[in-house]
Amino acid sequence: MNSSAQTMVLKTVADTLAFGRFLGQIAQPGDVICLDGDLGAGKTTLTQAIASGLEVPPEEYVTSPSFAILHEYQGRMPLYHMDFYRLSDASEIADLGLDEYFSLSGLTVLEWCQRASGLVPPSRLSLTLIIGPDDSRLVVCDPDIGSWQGRPLLKIPGLSID
Ligand SMILES: Nc1ncnc2c1ncn2[C@@H]1O[C@H](COP(=O)(O)OP(=O)(O)OP(=O)(O)O)[C@@H](O)[C@H]1O
Ligand SMILES: [Mg+2]
Repeated sequence: MNSSAQTMVLKTVADTLAFGRFLGQIAQPGDVICLDGDLGAGKTTLTQAIASGLEVPPEEYVTSPSFAILHEYQGRMPLYHMDFYRLSDASEIADLGLDEYFSLSGLTVLEWCQRASGLVPPSRLSLTLIIGPDDSRLVVCDPDIGSWQGRPLLKIPGLSID
């Protein structure tokens, strides 16, 4: 985590959906978003909202790609949704050629990114989702080096920032 990391409180699922839609709206081609943290904290839910913000048609329902590792959706740009939860070894990513997606002009969202962190480009938005008190969610937002640094990540109306 670097010094520009900030923590956001998502009190309800509606907050998670608002944050995800916002991320989908500001995403640029080639962006990478890494999602880590507690089991069941909302990584897939957030990805569904990112898809909505990217204008992926609602009928293309974003599910957990745990069994497929990669799902691809078409919105205003492609969304590559990967889930490394079941990865046996980080080298599997390179063996499957999944690292090639990082350089395409879509948005890549990675669940359980830390399982293969070394294979992911350093210019990324790292989000760590933590289950907080009263079923809230805490999100530690760390815009690593690169283009995420200057973006107004936390300027979302209605969300409480610590
Ligand atoms: N801010 C929030 N407040 C309360 N509940 C939330 C919030 N955000 C998400 N949830 C709920 O938490 C659950 C998260 O499930 P989800 O499958 O998205 O988690 P996940 O992190 O992808 O799980 P996994 O670790 O298995 O990949 C959903 O039931 C969702 O409605
Ligand atoms: Mg998930």
